[in-house]
Amino acid sequence: MPKIAITGKGGVGKTSFASLMAYVMVEQGHKVYAIDADPNATLAQALGFPPELASTVTPIVELADLIEERTGARPGEYGRMFKLNPRVDDIPARFSVAHRNIHLLQMGTVRGAGAGCVCPENAMLKTLVTHLLLREKETVIMDMVAGLEHLGRGTAGAVDAMFAVVEPGTRSIQTAKAIYRLAEELGVARFWVVGNKVRHERDAAFIRDSLDGLPVVGMLPYSDQAIEADIQSKALYDIAPELAEKTRQIVEAVLGQGA
Ligand SMILES: Nc1ncnc2c1ncn2[C@@H]1O[C@H](COP(=O)(O)OP(=O)(O)OP(=O)(O)O)[C@@H](O)[C@H]1O
Ligand SMILES: [Mg+2]
Repeated sequence: MPKIAITGKGGVGKTSFASLMAYVMVEQGHKVYAIDADPNATLAQALGFPPELASTVTPIVELADLIEERTGARPGEYGRMFKLNPRVDDIPARFSVAHRNIHLLQMGTVRGAGAGCVCPENAMLKTLVTHLLLREKETVIMDMVAGLEHLGRGTAGAVDAMFAVVEPGTRSIQTAKAIYRLAEELGVARFWVVGNKVRHERDAAFIRDSLDGLPVVGMLPYSDQAIEADIQSKALYDIAPELAEKTRQIVEAVLGQGA
């Protein structure tokens, strides 16, 4: 089952695309784990999880007692020894929240020494993500924070398809190129660019012509329904059939052979 990471510059539509893809995978009968790896978590909302359900999701880094039990040290506790590979196999089932066959996990915000610190909470997150990426039966879709710094060598190597979302504009295209170079270095098996917020053929041509040959797997149109979904806190998938259909085509193009 595919293990997918969605990356790109801030605000380009990573979370929107991740939400569309999650539902398209469910349509195809997959059991989907949607991982919100962005500290500023918005995936539950994009997926249209009912607010009372979304509010029950506990970010993994906030499970201080569990982190201590599993790693031997509490988040924020410095100078203590801790396990780098704690037991995590029970965590996806215990701490995800499910809606329409999408199981959502939120990673949360690592405080203190910084997002990349060698600390118990990061050991927990890293081990958990790697564990999910190695499980066979589930499809995993990770909505990443803008950039790639947090995606370590082991984790990236286990991702089998990475998408970089771009919008018509030079900045997101520069970011996609930087992500591609890093992804290649980290051993990501397959990499595609998805254009988003495309208004007309000129936008599409701009994206295609600016990418120096990076493969563009599809383009999603600019859609007022994206804004409407956000206002109404509804799943984009439900109110924007055109975006859902384009996502279906992308999924078929890249994963049709069964990734
Ligand atoms: N196809 C689209 N047409 C119009 N607006 C869109 C489209 N896709 C996304 N948007 C809008 O762009 C904004 C950013 O989208 P989204 O949150 O999915 O991006 P992101 O890359 O996840 O952002 P962040 O970096 O903050 O996590 C939202 O207001 C969303 O409604
Ligand atoms: Mg986002």
